[in-house]
Amino acid sequence: MPRPWPRRPRLVAGNWKMNKTAEEGARLAREVVTAAGRSSAALALCPPFTALAAVQPIVASTGVLLGAQNLHPEPRGAFTGEISGPMLVALGCRCVIVGHSERRHGMGESDAQVAAKLRAALQGGLMPIVCVGETLREREAGETDAVLARQVEASFTGLPPDELAGSVIAYEPVWAIGTGKVASPQQAADAHLTIRATLNRCAGAGAGEAMTVLYGGSVSPQNAAALFAEEQLDGALVGGASLEAASFLAIAEAAGGA
Ligand code: 13P
Repeated sequence: MPRPWPRRPRLVAGNWKMNKTAEEGARLAREVVTAAGRSSAALALCPPFTALAAVQPIVASTGVLLGAQNLHPEPRGAFTGEISGPMLVALGCRCVIVGHSERRHGMGESDAQVAAKLRAALQGGLMPIVCVGETLREREAGETDAVLARQVEASFTGLPPDELAGSVIAYEPVWAIGTGKVASPQQAADAHLTIRATLNRCAGAGAGEAMTVLYGGSVSPQNAAALFAEEQLDGALVGGASLEAASFLAIAEAAGGA
C-alpha cells in the first residue's frame, strides 16, 4: 500500500534508567558515537542525571542527542531532590523522557503530572518523549485503546502545532518492559494507529500522521528489523539493550536501514 504521508524521520533513544556511573556512561557514550554514523536514524542517549555532565562533551557536535529521564514541572524552587528543565538545558540536554511507566506505576505519577512535565519540557526548549502504554491487566481486559486514548488526550489536548511538532510519543506496553516479552509488530502498529487517531481527535487533523511515535519494550537486535518493517513505527526507546554499544548500534542500524 502506498504511504499516505512521507516517511517520518527515525529516532532511536537509549534509556539507561538507573544504570552507569559517570565514568561508565562516558565509556559507553564514546563507543556509541564512534559508530553512530552507520545509522541514518537520529540517536539519543538518556543517562541518569549523575552521568549527564560526563556524557555531554562526548556527544556534543556528533549529532547524537543528549536526553534526561525525568524533570520537575517547575523551573526552580523548594523541591528537594528534583531536577528542572532549565537545569537540564544548561547541561546540554536536548530531550527528556516524560511519564515513563516506571514513574507512572512505580512513583504514582498521574496523567495530570505527566501533562505538566510535558509543558515544562516544551517551555524550556526540550523535546519531550512522552511514554504511554497499557498494563497486562488492561490489555487482557480489552482496555488497551481506552488507556492509550486517555493518556494521549491528557497530555496533548489543545497543544499548539509548533509544540506538537517538537514532541515525540513512545508506546511502551508495560508488560513488555524489561520482560523479554516484545509486542508483536502488529500489536505495536495497532497501538500506534490508536495513538495517531487520538491525536487527530484531540490535537487537530493531521497531528497523528505528523507525530514521531516510537516503540519501547524489550527491543533487541534480534527483533528490531521485524518491528521497524512496520510503517507505523518511527523508531524505538530502548532500555536493556542500550546498555551495550553493540546491541544499541545494531538496533539503530536496523532502524536506519528499514
Ligand atoms: P527494555 O528495553 O529493557 O524492555 O526497556 C524499555 C523501556 O522501558 C525504555 O524506556
